[in-house]
Parts: sequence; structure tokens; C-alpha cells
Amino acid sequence: MTEQQALAQIQELSEKINYHNDLYYQKDKSEITDYEFDQLLEKLIALENQFPQYKFEDSPSQRVGGTITKNFETVVHKYPMLSLGNTYSKEDLIDWDGRVKRGLGTDDYAYFCELKFDGTALSLTYENGQLKRAVTRGDGTQGDDVTTNAKTIRSIPLKVKHQVPKSFEVRGEVYFPKKEFERVNAERIENGEEPLANPRNAGSGTLKMQDSSIVASRKLDCYLYYLLGDSLDFSTHSESMAQLEQWGFNVSPTYKRCNTIAEVLEYIAEWETKRHDLPSETDGVVIKVDSLDQQNELGFTAKSPRWAIAYKYKAESASTVLESISYQVGRTGSVTPVANLKPVLLAGTTVKRASLHNANEIARLGLHLGDTVFVEKGGEIIPKITGIDELQRPNDSMPVEYITHCPECNTELVRKEGEANHYCPNSEGCPPQILGRIEHFIQRKALDIDSLGSETIRGLLDNGLIENYAGLYRLTFEDLNGLEFKTFSEKKGDYSTRSLREKSASNIIEAIEISKKTPFERVLFGLGIRYVGQTVAEKLAQNFKNIDNLMAASKEELVAVPEIGERIAESVVDFFSQESHRDLIQQLKNAGLQFEIEVIEVEQEGSNLAEKTFVISGVFNTFSRDELKEKIKLNGGKVVSSISAKLDYLVAGDNMGPAKLEKATKLGINIISEEEFIKMING
Ligand code: IVH
Repeated sequence: MTEQQALAQIQELSEKINYHNDLYYQKDKSEITDYEFDQLLEKLIALENQFPQYKFEDSPSQRVGGTITKNFETVVHKYPMLSLGNTYSKEDLIDWDGRVKRGLGTDDYAYFCELKFDGTALSLTYENGQLKRAVTRGDGTQGDDVTTNAKTIRSIPLKVKHQVPKSFEVRGEVYFPKKEFERVNAERIENGEEPLANPRNAGSGTLKMQDSSIVASRKLDCYLYYLLGDSLDFSTHSESMAQLEQWGFNVSPTYKRCNTIAEVLEYIAEWETKRHDLPSETDGVVIKVDSLDQQNELGFTAKSPRWAIAYKYKAESASTVLESISYQVGRTGSVTPVANLKPVLLAGTTVKRASLHNANEIARLGLHLGDTVFVEKGGEIIPKITGIDELQRPNDSMPVEYITHCPECNTELVRKEGEANHYCPNSEGCPPQILGRIEHFIQRKALDIDSLGSETIRGLLDNGLIENYAGLYRLTFEDLNGLEFKTFSEKKGDYSTRSLREKSASNIIEAIEISKKTPFERVLFGLGIRYVGQTVAEKLAQNFKNIDNLMAASKEELVAVPEIGERIAESVVDFFSQESHRDLIQQLKNAGLQFEIEVIEVEQEGSNLAEKTFVISGVFNTFSRDELKEKIKLNGGKVVSSISAKLDYLVAGDNMGPAKLEKATKLGINIISEEEFIKMING
């Protein structure tokens, strides 16, 4: 490929990706699947690695992260990031309105109401339409430059496509979408990791992570609520928000212009419960004087503007009685306790259940059955128990004793050392595990047969038509047409029987057929190997190329793959060592599923490293570790995992392990820096 061809392809791919990204984030639509989108991105990244001179600052590849930042640079804000005064009551708000009226000396003013998003404030600087810098609030005067991480937030434009002022600043709140937070936590619990405490802290922690690819995987989002600049031409805040929307920034559509304080109070009342349906956590309403001239007239106190104020909703907590605890068994056998509560009204919804995570959480709270507990609705969709009212504890109440046997199949539970969760080891015979594995297999991110709902799968299992996911590929239209299955009606609180219609049956058969073309990495993810999530599945697929290599891999070979730790390696080896799993794979192979990766042809960059072997260690400035490995391969070299006398070079980054350094020195290996490495590839 010539340089010119590469540039043309990079431009074409970038345009396509930007188009689909806009469609998804601005218009809530999609014309291609997530997988197809990722494929486009992957192609772009491969090309950019091959032709780094065409890796532009606003390339959509910046969205996937990959760079490591060790120390975030401190940046002084051009305009300080102030805080807002708070009020907690109508009366205080009405008093504030009085002060605004007196300050302006007129009745002629309007307010702009927005929700107060509970996340992390971020300031974005654009120059010539390009995102130049993203800085956290810090102490209000100076904050941290988190640009690489902010670029992974897909709703933040890297380049504004409209005619815009030469330079301007946009401020907003980065948040961890509630659904995303639940997803990440479910995954963490499944993996035996501690769940993240709440979306707000998790969001601000994520924004300051060193590895931007982890930031990208968490899918943070951002609402913008403030436009500033020296040469802007607006007379009201409403106009500036409309402008931001038109430029493609994510402005929450929940705002309202209010002409009187009475209307403001109505807005506050309206959103008190409705706000819980929003993707972000909110803790109040921000009320701003709409006219910018009037804002200037009112000015600032030392800490905050006089023209704006925050009304905070009361912390939402209620007390109720813990009636019992149920235990849910997941697809990997992990057991999650759930508190059943006496129904109580909290933040506009009736709460009957609260999550308890694991036995440690029950012990930490010191729960007794019959206890009066405090429940709070934070960012999570399911509320949580925050404490106990010990004074109300019934005399005869007993501490909660964690179950010892599986509530579904009565097998004795196990708890591995160092893990928070209990597990049911009866993976082959425990009904929710069997069902859970099939549900995992058919989900969109895996084999994408989700026209087949959970109830139908249960129907198939109950009728003995399948025993596991491989059985799906032997189903016929006749098996499905008219299949009876039970559905649960919340209203009646009971099951009723339904049967599958012809149209649904043929849709399912078609989806199963199409799923045979699913790429290897998604099939691998669908197998449901513990600790093998989407990212790990991709890494394994890329490294081992096909299932046979992966099945034959030893623990040591697995650990040598970047980002594969011992726990994952052990789990993979254990999975494939089981006869029943090898048999499943064979059945899926016979059905025609994809068990090797499609190779994307990447041309070599050069041969300056031909025949040479490299070990890389530590953290690098120009490349991520994966990029560095890619570079070595593209230039004809080979990456190995351990230092031996045969090794040619050790590329030493910062913070590399002293043991490696000592060993390499002893063996007389060439130890080179990142800079020397770059010189080597350039000849
Ligand atoms: S306006 C000078 N609008 O609340 C006023 N702030 O307590 C600039 N916040 O640091 C802020 N939602 O992080 C504004 N709709 C909204 C907001 C909002 C959340 C945060 C922001 C600010 C803090 C002040």
C-alpha cells in the first residue's frame, strides 16, 4: 500500500466511524452492529499503526484509549471553576429569588433550570474546532489534564463540524451511566472482585485512571451545561445551550426556561421523582438567571455566582423491615444474596428488595432477620441497605446465617480463599447455571440469538429439546413451532402457559443459522469461561488464532499473553480440561461455528528488527505495551515473555521490575530505552 492509499483509507474509515458514532450518540440510532463498528475501528487502528504519520489528533481511534498516563499534568483554568451556593428548602429558594430581584432592581428576568448532575466537573477547551484539552475541576483554580481519558467519552466531540469561534471552553459533568455502572459491577461480582461503591466516585476515579483503554471500556458519558469564551455572541444562557446542542454537544434535554420562581418550584417538583429515570445520577436542580447581562450585573461572591444556585433534593432514605433473604445463583454458580423488604416508598417507587452483594456485606452490616433497616437509593437501580436501627431490633431476632447449600440444587456451596462470593460447584446439574450459560451464549455481544428469550429457553430445557447451548444447533422449525413455555405474570404473581408462534419459531431458526458466522472471539466469549469477558476473549483469540491452539495452551503460555493473569489462565486451562467442555466444542465445530480468527492483513512496516527477540518491561511514554509489541512485530521482530541467554534486547520502560533488570544484566542482554528502540526501527 502506498502512503497515499493509506491516507485515503484512513480518511474514509474515520469518516465512516464518525458518521456511525454521531448517529448513535446524537440521534440514538444505529445502522450497523457494535461488532461491525469495532471492526471498522480495528482496521483504522491497524492502518494508523502502520502509518503513524497519519494518526491525527482527532482520529476516532482516540476513543479506544491505549495510552498510559503516569502523572496528569496540572493546568491552571483560564476562567476559575466556581462552585454553587446550595439551598435545601423552598423558603431559602424564595429568599434567593428576592435577592436576585433586589440586585437587579426589576421584576423583568427569567430563570433557566437544569438538573444538577452528580458526577465530576470537566472543562473542555476547543481551538479551531478541535478538542485540545480536558481538565478536571481540581481546586477550582487548577485541575488535572485528563485529555486522553476524556477522548474515550464518545459523546464528547473531538472535532466540531460547524463554523465555530476560534477558541471556546465548554463545561459539563462526566458521569458513569447507571446502567453501565450496574453492568460493570455485575461483571466484577461475577469475577469475585469488590463492586465499585457508587457511580459518582467510580466515575471520578475512572477519569483519573492511568490506562485509557480501561476508561474506554467503562463507557462514561458527559452532559454539558456551560459555554464560555472571549468572543462569543449570546445574550442568554438559553441561546448558548441551543448553540451547544446545534454544534453536537450532549446537552441534557431536561432543561426549562422559567419566567417566575413559582415555575421554578414546579420544575423542581416535576423532576423530584422523574429524575430517577435519567441515565445519570442527579442530586438537585441548578437555577441560573438566563440573561448574561443580568448575570454580569449580579456578579460573584468569593466562592460562587450570585446569579445561580443549586436546590438540593433531600437524601432519599427510608426505613423498613428486613423480612427475609433470597439467594440468586448466577451462570457461573456464584451466589448473590438479596434482601426482601417490607415494601416502602422511596424516591417515588416502591422498594421491595435491596442488594447485599455477598456474605461479607451481611456481616459488615450485622443483619438480623426482622431488623429495621435504612435503605437508600443512590446511583444504583436497586437500592441498598445503609444501616440498621438497633433500637428497634426484636428481642428474639436471630443473626442472618449464610446458607451452606445451593437454594436451587442443594449442593454444598464452596468459597475459594480470598474470594468474596460463595459458589455452587454443581455446574452441570444446577438449573439456573444451565439456563444462565445459554442466556450468556445467545446475548447480543456473543452469538446474538436474542430473539430466543429466557422463557423459551426454559421451555426448550423443560421439554428436553436441548441440554446446553450446543443443542440449539440441532433444533428444527418443528421443535419450536407451538413449543409450550411458561411465562410469569407480575400482575397475577403466577405462571401461565403460552406457545411459540410460527413467525417467532422461524425467526429463531434464522437467527441460529446466522449466528454460525459469528467471529471466533465472540464465540469464545459466549462459551462462558469464568473470567473470560469480551476483552479477554479478544486477547486470547488474537494470540492463539484458533481454538485448538488455545485448548492446547499451558498455564504458562496463557500468562505470557499481555493482560492475562494467573486467575484467568487457570480458569481457561480448567475449562478445557473437562471432557464435557471439549465435547461441547466438538459439537459446535460440527455445527459450523467459527473457531479461528479472520486475519486482517497488515503489511510489514520494515525489517530492521528481523530475527531479533525482545522482552518489554515497565511503562512507556510513546507507546502502550500493546502498541510496542505491535511495532516489534510490524518490523520483523519477535516478542517473548521471559529473559534467557538467547534474548537479543530488553526494552526497559519506567518502573520495570528489579528482578528482570538484574537477570538481564547478569546475562549480558542489551538493555535499551524506548528512545533507542525508536531509533532502531527507523534504522
Ligand atoms: S453550572 C458557576 N450546571 O455542580 C456555575 N453546574 O456545585 C457553574 N453541576 O462544579 C456550574 N450539574 O460540577 C452547573 N447543570 C449544572 C450542573 C452543575 C452539576 C456541578 C458542577 C459544579 C457543581 C457546583
